[in-house]
Amino acid sequence: MTRWSTLLLDDASLAQMPDLPVDHVLRHADVVAAQQPKPQALYERWEKQQWSAQAIELEPDRHDFDKRLSQPAKKAIQESVATFIIGEYTGLDLLAPILTGAPEETDHLYLGTQIADETRHTQLMLRLGEEILGLDSDPKRMLVQAWNMCTPPHRELSRLETEVIRTLQNAPSDYGQWLRAVALFHLISEGVLALVGQRAIVQSLHKVPLMPGLKAGFTAMCRDESRHVSFGLHALRQGVREGYTDEICDMIEQSAPLALRIEEGGEAEYAPGIPSMRQLGIDSLRRQLRLIGIDQTFTEHVVGLIGKQPAAEDS
Ligand SMILES: [Fe+2]
Ligand SMILES: [Fe+2]
Repeated sequence: MTRWSTLLLDDASLAQMPDLPVDHVLRHADVVAAQQPKPQALYERWEKQQWSAQAIELEPDRHDFDKRLSQPAKKAIQESVATFIIGEYTGLDLLAPILTGAPEETDHLYLGTQIADETRHTQLMLRLGEEILGLDSDPKRMLVQAWNMCTPPHRELSRLETEVIRTLQNAPSDYGQWLRAVALFHLISEGVLALVGQRAIVQSLHKVPLMPGLKAGFTAMCRDESRHVSFGLHALRQGVREGYTDEICDMIEQSAPLALRIEEGGEAEYAPGIPSMRQLGIDSLRRQLRLIGIDQTFTEHVVGLIGKQPAAEDS
């Protein structure tokens, strides 16, 4: 571990990622977001941060998963990977209308990179689904299997995403609708759910010398997510400045409680000492809303809604 203590995630190769200091990986997205990078700077980071989903060696992971992991750890990995199979695939689907509706040329040029990233993430998740979890190799059938493993709040959130994106598709130059889609996708699905989920996996595995491929892949995804979330914060900060706070807040009010209840209905138990996804998500939501200039009273109102919503319907 000492060997890489000065190595930054920004410059790490895929092979170096499992050995990076965990604190550095966990803080990375916040450090990038605090710099408030513009879309062109995010594009330039992307050019330097390429990796290959196909190059990750998964044979040792399959052995660890089958023979060495405890039952609760296996359950937690199964649920997370299923969530990411659906999340990455639907993310790819949602980004096309967000790219088309981008208000500025620089936004458009950045969003092309994110579509490439989500394609790579989906490819990695399909490999994990087949090679680690033993799901069907046909993506169509694997998506159905993964959907059935997702919790009811996650399914509800996916349905909301589809609804919001359909509305944007019908009115691609409606800036308010574009901001609603970015608030839902970049801030909630990525900034609260994906980033927190990736960090939870990296954190729970960092003391265990197992699953090196999974660790490398999720660390690389954390680094990509720091660019995605930073873009969302840039776009929403601009939206708030231009008077679209109501559209953004309305979307967050609808979606944040679902995202923060994502674990409900799941069977995974988390190791003692690892904060729950909900607590990590609340911290992330508070930090991001502050960064785009939303009043703290609204943030606490949304956090207070979590316990009040009825459980999402399972179907
Ligand atoms: Fe992704
Ligand atoms: Fe992403």
